[in-house]
Amino acid sequence: MDVFSISPSDIAGVIICSIVILLILIACYILCKPLNRIRDLCDVGYEEYLRLDKYGQTRRQLANEVRRRKKVGGIPPVFPNGWFALCESDDVKDGQVRAVDALGEHFVVFRTEKGVASVLDAYCPHLGAHLGIGSRVIGDCVECPFHGWQFRGEDGQCTSIPYATGKIPQSARVKAWPSDEVNGFILVWYHAEQEEPSWKPPQIPEIAAKKWFYGGRSEYRVNAHIQEIPENGSDVAHLECLHGPSILYGSDLKATLNGKSVNGFAPFMQHHWSVKWETDPEEKHVAVSRLHHEIRIFGRLSCISVDVEAKQIGPGLVYLTFTSPLFGRCILFETVTPVEPMVQRVLHRLYAPLPMMGPLAKFIVWGEAVQFERDVVIWNNKTFIKSPILVAEDRAINLYRRWFQQFYSENSPLFDFQGNKDNEITNW
Ligand code: FES
Ligand SMILES: [Fe+2]
Repeated sequence: MDVFSISPSDIAGVIICSIVILLILIACYILCKPLNRIRDLCDVGYEEYLRLDKYGQTRRQLANEVRRRKKVGGIPPVFPNGWFALCESDDVKDGQVRAVDALGEHFVVFRTEKGVASVLDAYCPHLGAHLGIGSRVIGDCVECPFHGWQFRGEDGQCTSIPYATGKIPQSARVKAWPSDEVNGFILVWYHAEQEEPSWKPPQIPEIAAKKWFYGGRSEYRVNAHIQEIPENGSDVAHLECLHGPSILYGSDLKATLNGKSVNGFAPFMQHHWSVKWETDPEEKHVAVSRLHHEIRIFGRLSCISVDVEAKQIGPGLVYLTFTSPLFGRCILFETVTPVEPMVQRVLHRLYAPLPMMGPLAKFIVWGEAVQFERDVVIWNNKTFIKSPILVAEDRAINLYRRWFQQFYSENSPLFDFQGNKDNEITNW
């Protein structure tokens, strides 16, 4: 017998094994790749309108109609004072420039080859070109694409006018915004009275020491006033009602009705919450929600419990620390940045220790995203009630609203500051 002969069944076996190994590798890659979930303004919250539509309108058309008709309500000023995320650190690599619009301003964010990030006003004081479009980084400056003037990131001063033989005018400068880079975000300090930062966004030591790693993200644009989003932390009563049905029902609120208790009978799986909201006695710009979360089977058997400390730091940052006997500790950052008076860009980024990377990190980011999207459905369709009717159990909402007042000042912009009264966003 020829020992080197290969039968057709051997070849078939090798092919099948190769395919199985390839499929396993693909499955591992999909399971371990950090989740990146992105939802635009029309993606969440308009399912009911789609179901009722008889005219064949697209989701985008329906969403825009609803947004245009929505009553904004008695909203406070639209841009509070504080630190806001302009982008994530990965968005601006060494030597790169990026244009970012937020808070009624046009910013240019750039990073030197040495890795230092800066935030400047976007419009060049020479003839008004946009410093974030078609520009480049030279040394510690950004170079305007129109005539080549260069502006230093540190203070916005013009340091070079390539064709001018005389002295550079002292007034040739753009506004340099106070900025910071922590926990994977590039942040700007916004203050309507032009005051300098009165506090700093805290760096998480485990991330700085590279003991915790990036484990996934989600990103949303939400049609609501900024104050609505952190108000959620003090709104104790909505947790059982909106976030009680299992995450397996998703974020379509019609579908989640199937996960609610009926006549006292609990469904197979439900989330249970208890929460306490309080202000920080030492740092007045900080408030904390302490949540205990359990998944219960048929309303009784508790199978997964997680403690969440949600630290609201100023108007635009939340640090959510998750602690569970099942998986240990990790942190999820939430940043809320007003892109327009009634459009918020919300980012979530998870950081966790190495053993939690992969499917577990993915599940945490996904689970949080599903619960967050249920709130988005509410926010996208609700109005802001300035003097709500509250019962005793809602008292934290009043405390929260009083606490949030500290982020408004005399010149904080009001909703109609750009004649933007009808809530129509035409650029999407
Ligand atoms: S407009 Fe920027 S250099 Fe002329
Ligand atoms: Fe919520």
